[in-house]
Amino acid sequence: MSSQPTDLRISELATLRAQVAAWRAAGARVVLVPTMGALHRGHLALVAEGRALGGRTVASIFVNPTQFGPGEDFSRYPRDLAADLALLSGAGADAAWTPEPATMYPPGFATRIAVGALSEGLCGAVRPGHFSGVATVVTKLLNQVRPDIALFGEKDFQQLRVIQQVTRDLDLAVEIRGVPTLREADGLALSSRNRYLTSAERAVAPRLHAVLSEVAAAARDGGETGAALARGAAALTAAGFAVQYLAVCDAETLAPLERVAGPARVLAAAHLGRTRLIDNVAV
Ligand code: PAF
Repeated sequence: MSSQPTDLRISELATLRAQVAAWRAAGARVVLVPTMGALHRGHLALVAEGRALGGRTVASIFVNPTQFGPGEDFSRYPRDLAADLALLSGAGADAAWTPEPATMYPPGFATRIAVGALSEGLCGAVRPGHFSGVATVVTKLLNQVRPDIALFGEKDFQQLRVIQQVTRDLDLAVEIRGVPTLREADGLALSSRNRYLTSAERAVAPRLHAVLSEVAAAARDGGETGAALARGAAALTAAGFAVQYLAVCDAETLAPLERVAGPARVLAAAHLGRTRLIDNVAV
C-alpha cells in the first residue's frame, strides 16, 4: 500500500525521537529541511536534495511566532497543512515534523539565542529580534531532530549565515548546507510570500532580481559598488518598490563593501505594496 500524506506527520517529540533512532540504528543518515509551511518548489528542491544525499529526510513545518515583529504577517502567514503534507509526500520526504506551539514554547520558556554582528545589519536592522527568533527555533529543531545535515535555501542568505554561525559557536553536531535559490522563469525568487502579490505587483516583482544582477555585474567589472547601488536603488524606487536595503556585502561576514575584492553577495529587501520581498545574488 502506498503511504498517505497524513502518515508522514509526526507531532509528538517522543515519536519523532523514536523514528529518528530507528533510522539511525538501521545506518541511515538524517537530513532536516526546516520550513514554515506554505510549501513551494523551492522547499521541494530542498527535500529532493535531502533524498539525493541518500538519507532519511525530515521536513519540519512550524510558523515560528518569535521571528515575526509587531505588525508583521504572523497571523496572515499562509497555512495549509493538508496541501503541505501532500506536497511532501509527493516529493518523497520520510517525515513531516509538525510540533505544536506548546512543544516549541512551553509555559515558562525563557531562552533566546542572540547572534552577534552577522544578525545586526540588513534584515536584522529592519526586523529587530528576527534572527534571535530564527536562531532559537532552529536550534530547537536541530536538537529535536538531531540531523546529520540541515538544508537552507540561499534566498535567505543572511539566515543561512546566522545558522552557520550558531552551529559553529554552540558546537552543534550538524552540517548546515545552503541550496541555490529556485526562480520563476522571469527571475523572481520562489517565496511563500509571492502569493500575497497582486497581478500588477507580480508583473513588477522580477525587477528586483534584475537589479541585483545588474549591481553584481557592475561590482564584478569595476570593483566599486557605490554608483551601481545608487542606480539600482533608483531603478527599484521608479518601478514602485519601497527599498529597505540594497547592499553589496562580504559573503562571509556580510559587512558592506565599497569595493569587491573577494567572494561577495548583493542583497536587497523591498516592499512591493504590502508584500516584503528579499533576494540576493553572488557577485
Ligand atoms: O526560512 C524559514 O522558513 C524559517 O525562517 C525557518 C528556518 C523554518 C525558521 O522558522
